[in-house]
Amino acid sequence: MMKMTKVAALFLAGAMTVSLAACGGSKDGAAAAGQAAEAAASAAASAGQTLEDIKKSGKITMVTNAEFEPFEYKDHDQVVGIDADIAKEIADKLGVKLEITDIAFDACVPSLTTGKADFCAAGMTVTPDRQKNVDFTDPYYNASQAIIVRKDSKIKSREDLNGKVVGVQQGTTGDIYCTNEDGKSEVKVKEVKRYPKGMDAVADMMGGRIDAVVIDNFPADKYVSKNADKIQKLDEALTEEEYAIAVPKNSELKATINEVIKDLNDSGKMDEIVGKYITAD
Ligand code: ARG
Repeated sequence: MMKMTKVAALFLAGAMTVSLAACGGSKDGAAAAGQAAEAAASAAASAGQTLEDIKKSGKITMVTNAEFEPFEYKDHDQVVGIDADIAKEIADKLGVKLEITDIAFDACVPSLTTGKADFCAAGMTVTPDRQKNVDFTDPYYNASQAIIVRKDSKIKSREDLNGKVVGVQQGTTGDIYCTNEDGKSEVKVKEVKRYPKGMDAVADMMGGRIDAVVIDNFPADKYVSKNADKIQKLDEALTEEEYAIAVPKNSELKATINEVIKDLNDSGKMDEIVGKYITAD
């Protein structure tokens, strides 16, 4: 949708340039057309619904990828987890119903830029690249990229990942780190295998088809606790990251969500929510 709008804006700008040129338009005409195109493009980068829109409609929509226990996962047909509980607080603050849609992780940012959802709570790490397309609230949790391997694996540290075949969830910071697009990662793996679900990567690793899985530390702990006889998490982590909630650029919602996060932290309710899903052991 966003793409269409951009294309449409460019097309319009092109058409304007042509028509200006047709009536003897000067360089100034071309500059004006350029400015018009810029204005159209920035209008296309929608701020999403206003708070008033949301209140009027009586519901707020969230996207996530519910393959990420303890932050979001399915309990029967329901999406539950830390992010779902925080989202409920956001909806309550606005006095509206919460609607959660479970989609692919790498579809979450696009669904905000195209106005399909009001916010995304998905254990999403703040990254400069994502910040080009969406705004982030204040961070609400610290995390890291963990390495999981089979118990009998020779991989004992991050360096041991060099030259290995590593599984990641597609489009995540684990993927970005292992793919090493910016050339900044200390580790140079031989091949990155991308999975729509972290669990599928773990299954392939347990089955010996890949050497290791790089994934956020909290889901890593969940996978390990469910398969403690077969796999383990290394002590060493690869990155330090911060989770925040993503909203469309310039969305009014950002300030509201920041208030909710602050209230949850100040009242101790955030600890309560986290405590429901992460047991200290
Ligand atoms: N923190 C990582 C990232 O932002 C992984 C998040 C995956 N979340 C999910 N709900 N599947 O890239």
